[in-house]
Parts: sequence; structure tokens; C-alpha cells
Amino acid sequence: MRTIAVVNQKGGTGKTTTTVCLGAALAGMGKRVLLIDLDPQYSTTTWLATHPVGRGVFELFYAPEETALADLVQKTATDGLWLVGASTWLVGAEKALATEPGAETILRDKVSELEPGRFDYALIDCPPTLGVLTVNALTAAPEVLVPVECHVMGLQGLAQLVQTVERVRKRLNPALRIAGIVPCRLDQRTNHGPETVAKLRGRFPAETFRTAVRENVRLAECPSMGEPITAYAPASSGAEDYRALAGEVIEQEPKEEYGTVENG
Ligand SMILES: Nc1ncnc2c1ncn2[C@@H]1O[C@H](COP(=O)(O)OP(=O)(O)O)[C@@H](O)[C@H]1O
Ligand SMILES: [Mg+2]
Repeated sequence: MRTIAVVNQKGGTGKTTTTVCLGAALAGMGKRVLLIDLDPQYSTTTWLATHPVGRGVFELFYAPEETALADLVQKTATDGLWLVGASTWLVGAEKALATEPGAETILRDKVSELEPGRFDYALIDCPPTLGVLTVNALTAAPEVLVPVECHVMGLQGLAQLVQTVERVRKRLNPALRIAGIVPCRLDQRTNHGPETVAKLRGRFPAETFRTAVRENVRLAECPSMGEPITAYAPASSGAEDYRALAGEVIEQEPKEEYGTVENG
């Protein structure tokens, strides 16, 4: 299973949209995908949950001994896409965990207990902070995916994010690496958007995906319809972009994993 944390400490960059729509696009390509909502605003959960989640992922932090991640998994309406939901309870977790020794590794331990081979991907939707929840995601996942808003302001904070990834790699998770940066919300009607993508590619040539997700009103609409873009508007540019991104993510799969027992 590839575990990927979707991280950016800025709000509104496209983390939730990317988690849900990339996840759904991967599922559409035959992958079994688990989405883990780690954001106290629980937008992924509001978008996709078909059953009540209760306290959701908060249980892992609240009662780690009594809770397994598998207990929190629910099916979504999309084939191949499962959800571990979050709730407003997570708001308190950040503060409570700050004083708890070893709290950074709770999610990692829980992810590692999932039945091997049950999922091909786990995507973790992170809050817009670099607090203990995001550090949990960075510790649980060997890979980080960074949605960046194609806007001058969008590039601000990237240096800090890269530094946090470095620190977590050194202290907690030596395998951690940036799987890719996704330019999001690209407005091609201005010079500004494409210029920002060019700047991003200049600074992070190896990390930036070829696919940029264009600004698309269908993407803004689909959360309130309870569907990922691939179901809500499969012919839209948003669906096209997330399918292209999913293709790039699949290209990164280590070749030796193909055909192993774990990947069925
Ligand atoms: N490519 C896009 N085109 C249009 N709207 C988008 C696009 N990506 C995200 N949005 C909208 O922008 C807002 C912020 O996106 P979201 O994914 O929730 O960001 P984050 O999770 O990083 O806070 C949401 O209202 C979402 O619907
Ligand atoms: Mg979000």
C-alpha cells in the first residue's frame, strides 16, 4: 500500500479536492483507495460519508489501545473508495496531543495494523497547519503530495513546508519524501496562473507533476453533491485533470510491486 499525506499548511489550496478527486480517479483505474480525513473541518467526510462517523478518526488518538483503524473504515458511494471519517472532535486533539509523549506515531502504528493488501492507496487529507495532526500524517506516510494554489501567494510557505518534511524525515520517518507538487486552481485566462506554474517548475523541477489542475466550476460544485468529480461531471476539465494526475501517480509505483501478493 502506498500511503500519501496530502499536505499544505495554507487553507484553500486544494488538499481536500485533491484527496477526494485523485482518490476517486485512482479507484476508477482499478485501485482500492482509502481516504483518511485528518482535518478538524472534516470536509472530506462531509463530502463522502454515507454513514454517521461518530467521533471518527479522533478515536485513534483518544483511545488508541481500544481502536483499530479498520473499525473506522466505511464504504463510500464510489466503487473502490473507502473513508475513515473525521468529526469536530478533532479540534481538541491538537492541544491534547501536544503534551502526550509519542503522539506523533499514533497514526503510523494504526496504519501499519491494516490488513496487508486490503488497499492499494491510503490518502490522508491534512489540516491547514503543521501541528501534531499533520506530523502524524507525515510520520505515517512515506510520501507527501502538496497541492499548491497557482497564485503568487500560493508559493509562500512552501519553504517552511519543505523544512518541516526534512525535520520529520530526520527525527521520525527516514523514508519520507515528496511524491509530488500539484499545481491547483490554474486560471489559464490570466498570465498570472501559468507564470506561477512556471515558477513552481523552476524551483521544484523534479517534484512538480506535469498535470496542473485547472480552475473548474464543476470541482467547486461537486462537494455539495456528495460525489467526486469523476462521478459528478466525468467529462469536465476537472475530471480530466484528476484522471491525468492519477495516471502520473500510478506511473510512480515501484515496478517490483506489480504482481506481488500484496497488490493482488
Ligand atoms: N481546481 C479547482 N477549481 C475550482 N474550485 C476549486 C478547485 N480546487 C479547489 N476548489 C475549491 O476551492 C475551495 C478550497 O479547496 P479545498 O480542496 O477545500 O482546499 P483545502 O482542503 O486545501 O482547504 C473549495 O471550495 C473547493 O471546492
Ligand atoms: Mg481541506
